[in-house]
Amino acid sequence: MKAGNDIQHAAALLKNGKVVAIPTETVYGLAANAFNAEAVITIFEIKNRPKFNPLIVHVASWQMVEKITASIDPLLKQIAEKFWPGPLTILFPKSDAIHPIITAGSAYVAVRMPNHPLTIQLLKELDFPLAAPSANLFGKISPTTTAHVLEQLGDQIDYVLDGGECSVGVESTIIKMNMYEKVEILRPGGVSAEEIAEITGYLPKTVSGSDSPEAPGMLNSHYAPKIPLVIGNIEELVNRYANKKIAVLAFYQKIDHPSVIKYYQLSPKKELHQAAHNLFSLMHEAENSGVDLIIAELLPEEGIGRAINDRLKRASF
Ligand code: TXA
Ligand code: MG
Repeated sequence: MKAGNDIQHAAALLKNGKVVAIPTETVYGLAANAFNAEAVITIFEIKNRPKFNPLIVHVASWQMVEKITASIDPLLKQIAEKFWPGPLTILFPKSDAIHPIITAGSAYVAVRMPNHPLTIQLLKELDFPLAAPSANLFGKISPTTTAHVLEQLGDQIDYVLDGGECSVGVESTIIKMNMYEKVEILRPGGVSAEEIAEITGYLPKTVSGSDSPEAPGMLNSHYAPKIPLVIGNIEELVNRYANKKIAVLAFYQKIDHPSVIKYYQLSPKKELHQAAHNLFSLMHEAENSGVDLIIAELLPEEGIGRAINDRLKRASF
């Protein structure tokens, strides 16, 4: 069996230097022993991921955080204590336990304590942390179900630990301390800037994309569906592309037009967390629905809406 909920089997494979797909609350990860450089290199090969794009290291205890970091800023620790386990990744100065292949040569390691019962249990079985990027081919849509993982990587991996649908649905928020001792967001994600502001007292700035050489993974070609995705006013775009077979990805409203073959609501309840939960699943569905084009709209730029808009913009061309 390629997929199942056998934690012991997943642990045995990982101890053997194999790569296993694991569930998290954000998206599925493609995991390997972070202390085994050869196993980590396999991740890059399977994903077809450039080596300059560093990996997040997943842990289940502060003991492990201390082992892989050289120092822990007290404010970042306070933020971690509030949101871990959860969809937040923090850059800390790395210790020698972390091979440079994981950080792409950077002196900082990205650390996250994920919040999924199977993966927490799995990490507790292991005496090493798990390096894991999202379990998709490089540049493609991230997986939020085992079926998504199998579709892209099924031929290349031994096992998917099946934890059902990812609850949050977009990747973790990545933060760091900048040179002015201010918390900065490198990638908007499951924890919102507003929530972090409750601890920092200020809204952390988002430095994204090409402005942020520190998150080289945030390339504009990320999350690209197999067919073009355009963003804007849905009605206008539907009229402009009326000669095409269209799938519409809307926040909540309905649209009736003969060219619209497929219609997807991110959140029938008009609620941003529900929209995040459905985003990648509906993008997977839309790209496989036989249409020529996906037309989508941006959501309110607040809370987790910032992460949704970030992914939609990267998916568009
Ligand atoms: O929710 C998530 O974060 C998921 C789950 C599996 O944990 N993981 C994930 O990994 O989204 P990935 O590899 O798809 O995205 C990680 C991002 C990339 O943009 C990468 O450049 C950035 O994190 N990153 C990782 N380590 C870094 C480092 N040391 N310095 C700066 N950016 C880093
Ligand atoms: Mg990714």
